[in-house]
Parts: sequence; structure tokens; C-alpha cells
Amino acid sequence: MGALAMMKQDGVAAQPHPTAAPRLRVEEVSLRYRTPDGGVFSALDKVSFEVPDQQFAVIVGPSGCGKSSLLYLTAGLAEPSDGAIFVGGQKVEGPGADRGMVFQSYTLFPWLTVRENIEFGLKRRGMPAAERKDIVEYYLNEVGLKAFAENYPKQLSGGMMQRVAIARALANDPQILLMDEPFGALDSQTRLQMQQLLLRVWEHSKKTVVFVTHDIDEAILLGDRVYVMGARPGRIKQILDVPIDRPRNLDVVMEPEFIRMKRQILGLLHDDLHEAH
Ligand SMILES: Nc1ncnc2c1ncn2[C@@H]1O[C@H](COP(=O)(O)OP(=O)(O)O)[C@@H](O)[C@H]1O
Ligand SMILES: [Mg+2]
Repeated sequence: MGALAMMKQDGVAAQPHPTAAPRLRVEEVSLRYRTPDGGVFSALDKVSFEVPDQQFAVIVGPSGCGKSSLLYLTAGLAEPSDGAIFVGGQKVEGPGADRGMVFQSYTLFPWLTVRENIEFGLKRRGMPAAERKDIVEYYLNEVGLKAFAENYPKQLSGGMMQRVAIARALANDPQILLMDEPFGALDSQTRLQMQQLLLRVWEHSKKTVVFVTHDIDEAILLGDRVYVMGARPGRIKQILDVPIDRPRNLDVVMEPEFIRMKRQILGLLHDDLHEAH
């Protein structure tokens, strides 16, 4: 477990500290698209927020409010029209291994086995084989795929593929994990299993996460804080702390705090629907 101990040490910089910069800072970010008729569409309008270290942040909002755009900008796959994004105090100027991504669509390398997919980034970084092995074993175990290590993605179910994607992202020990509706394509039963798994894996890793969803239950179940977005133009309407202790399990959906918060978020999203019409 030498490599793992080291990996945890790498995380020392990630310890909460009163003077430390937030893990993610989005500063007055606007994103405009040109429309075919020569006009301008404002996808994000002066969005500002911070995500502290080791926080599980969930962004919830209606379809088209700019959630994916915000993640793409943070990943460095697109550039804001105005404003800037900082990860660990560094301005985002392109893609980088310091930001792990898990998308809704399956993004595994089909020609690599489960093990090789998880190992991919570590190998590319030139990590010695013994160290890589420790880390890969650890994450295979975390996501319950030890028995499938030598399988290829096409031999896996959708839920299993997403478990590999999560393991692959975490194995790289990114500063921040960006997840764009990662369970959106799964059936509801698998989705619940995946939420449970992510809760447990996150308890162990305490990575800073930005998780995008339009599912309110998922947002409250997973998040420390919920960032509610509105559309036209895309903006943050409200930031709410989730007053539910961890560790959590799927039963929390029955708790009064959960229901109260769900009602509050529904209200915020409904306001937006009315404004739009
Ligand atoms: N490349 C693009 N060109 C023009 N408009 C786009 C482009 N990408 C996204 N949009 C628009 O920007 C808005 C925000 O999109 P997106 O970030 O995908 O929203 P969400 O993920 O919240 O559903 C949507 O109205 C979408 O149609
Ligand atoms: Mg989206």
C-alpha cells in the first residue's frame, strides 16, 4: 500500500485551511453563443461561486440552463466569453489532468480492459508498475469490479462502465472531479445503486466534486451544498447547504429535512418556469 499512502500524502495540500484558496472559483463567468440568425445567445451570465476544498457540490437546474457549459469551461474544453475560472488558485487555460471528468455517455477506451482503463492516466504519467498496481487494485475494490478487471467495456453493463469511469477519474488523483449527469442514462434501480456507491467512495476519497444533475433527489442525497441554477440566461439563483449528516444512505429521502429542502428547490425551479413563460 506504499503508493496509496503516498497518494494520500499528495492530498495534504488539499487539507482545509482557513487561508487556503477555494478548490474552485468561478468568477463572473459569461458564455455567449452566436446564433445562426446573427444574434447572440447568453448561455451563462456573470456566474460567480466558489467550491471549498473537499466539498461535494451539486449543480441542479433545468435543461438548457448551462450546467454542462459550466463543466466544460471548468474542464478547459471551452473558454468563457468573460470572466475566469480558477482551480486550486490556478487559472484554467486548457484541459489538464488536475481535473477528472465523468460524463453521462460512456467514455471508456473500448480496446482496453477495465484494469487498463483505470491504469491509463497513471501509465501515461510514467508511474512505476508496482505503484500503479496498488492504486488500480484499490479502486477496483472501491467500485466492486475486482472480478471484472480483465473484461472489456463492451462486456459490461452501463452501471459497471460508469463505475470504471469513476475509478479511472479518481485513480488519477485529480484536484477536482467534474461529473456531468453521470447516472442520467441508467435505469432507476441501477441509478440508486450508483448513488449509494458514490456516497461510499466519496466518504473515503473526500475529493472536491462538482456534480451536475437535473434530479433534485440526487442533488440532496449526494451534496454538501446545492447550487440551484436558473435559465435564460443561465445563472446561479441560490446556494443551499444540505442539513443532513453523513454518512448517508438512500433512506434519507424520507427525512423531514430532505423533504423540506426538496420543496424549497422545487419552488426555486418552478419560479424559473413561470418567469420563462
Ligand atoms: N455550441 C453551441 N452553440 C450554440 N448554443 C449552444 C451550444 N452549446 C450549448 N448551447 C446552448 O446553451 C444552453 C446551455 O446548454 P448546456 O450547458 O448544454 O445546458 P444544460 O447542460 O444545463 O442542459 C442551451 O440553451 C444550449 O442550447
Ligand atoms: Mg447538460
